[in-house]
Amino acid sequence: MKLGLRPIFLATAGTMVASLIGIAWAVGGPQSASPSSLDALTRSTGQTGLAVAVPLCGAEAYPGAAAQAGGQAGPAQGSQMSEDVFENIQVLRGIPVDEFMGTMGLYSAALTFCCSTCHIGAGFVNTDWAADSPRKQRARQMQLMVNTINSQNFGGRQVVTCWTCHRGGESPATTVAMADIYTEPVLKDPDVLGQADFSPPADEVLDKYLEAVGGAERAAALTSIVATGTSVAFASHDETRQVEIFAQASGERTVLSHTIRGDFTTTYDGSAGWTATPFTPVPVMELTGGELDGARVDAGLAFPARIKGLFSDWRVGYADVIDDRLVQVVQGGSGTEGALVTLYFDDETGLLTRMVRQSPSAVGRNPSQYDYSDYREVAGVMMPFDWVFSWVSGRDVFEMSEIQPNVQIDPDRFAMPAPTTDSLIPEPQ
Ligand code: HEC
Ligand code: HEC
Repeated sequence: MKLGLRPIFLATAGTMVASLIGIAWAVGGPQSASPSSLDALTRSTGQTGLAVAVPLCGAEAYPGAAAQAGGQAGPAQGSQMSEDVFENIQVLRGIPVDEFMGTMGLYSAALTFCCSTCHIGAGFVNTDWAADSPRKQRARQMQLMVNTINSQNFGGRQVVTCWTCHRGGESPATTVAMADIYTEPVLKDPDVLGQADFSPPADEVLDKYLEAVGGAERAAALTSIVATGTSVAFASHDETRQVEIFAQASGERTVLSHTIRGDFTTTYDGSAGWTATPFTPVPVMELTGGELDGARVDAGLAFPARIKGLFSDWRVGYADVIDDRLVQVVQGGSGTEGALVTLYFDDETGLLTRMVRQSPSAVGRNPSQYDYSDYREVAGVMMPFDWVFSWVSGRDVFEMSEIQPNVQIDPDRFAMPAPTTDSLIPEPQ
């Protein structure tokens, strides 16, 4: 297949992986904490990339923490707006709750902060999330500053974000270091890609993928799947969770993780979507905008036959390298209203090895990433049995043991989930 090669493409190989690992590790890695307290802080949805997770932040952990915050938030009914659900919203008003929580995740990631760095006592029972701390006040000022920079200088485009300056530190660097000048520059593609010179048309890459999974005909014969397996939170000594996934080619998908703190559910019913999580400010959170569109894409990608129809504006960027293998980079969406989705196909095997999707937030796009592996045949169609799911507040490693094709699934599986029952796990003595 043709390759659109960026002149210095080798130098940039894997930078995205490295930086994502960097964030996840920096947020979750170095602190020492007991396994159970680490677990308590990984309040991830585990499936959608919504940064509602509380980053793993050491001994502040205590189950029941975030549950206190915004206890007024009930199950989703219509759009849940931040200022209606929370008590003290002065700046991030007029945005849905899922986008608000994504913004909190991006704040934490941009500064390598825990939630508790700004929200004093976060992680303990009776956390007062609405209370102001000096850092929280500073963050509000920064949000206003960012809004002003973008509106006054960039026509309102969100080109400057917290990450632009902070890059993981609380005090952005002011002076260039010699080491920065004399090491190879880290080049990163813009979020939104155009069709690159010499790259093949998107149809060609997507057709090759369909061929690689077993051919369009077999792919089209797959109407539903039920997968069972496990997930483990990365670098957290977390417990192994039993995972069940239900999906239909007509567009529905539910991912259910059974954890010792309660069930995590992400459901997309073909047009609406929700997450239900234990110990969270919003027990059942409605998905909106980019997250909802992302759920649609997750559901669609479960069935290779549906891939082409997921976007109408596919384009192929420059080829890239993942783990020393050349990949074709295919993108759909714009990330301004819905999701921006980038797919990486192994140039040799044609299989999908990575998906990155980004949804809009108050401070730029909120990324999450799937790295797929262990492709095996299910009813003649190659499917990944393992994947690593990374988002701004953590990573989960999924391993499926069985994927059953074409089974009848109870329609209730795709209904709005009920709030999860929080299970309190006693702290170790
Ligand atoms: C850099 C500081 C900062 C970090 C880190 C941070 N927040 Fe916030 N948080 C804020 C600010 C500022 C507000 C108020 C926004 C406003 O006034 O519009 C807020 C508000 C909230 C609220 C609404 C409280 C209420 O009832 O008014 C919740 C809930 C919340 N944050 C949760 C979190 C979670 C969970 C995390 C970790 C993933 C987190 N925050 C990380 C700064 C931060
Ligand atoms: C244009 C660059 C720039 C952007 C964009 C920016 N910041 Fe800052 N921020 C700074 C600088 C510089 C400082 C340190 C100022 C100082 O040393 O007094 C700072 C300090 C802070 C602090 C205080 C840290 C501490 O020491 O406790 C917080 C909190 C913060 N920023 C949050 C944010 C958030 C949240 C965003 C995005 C909404 C953001 N910043 C965007 C430049 C920026």
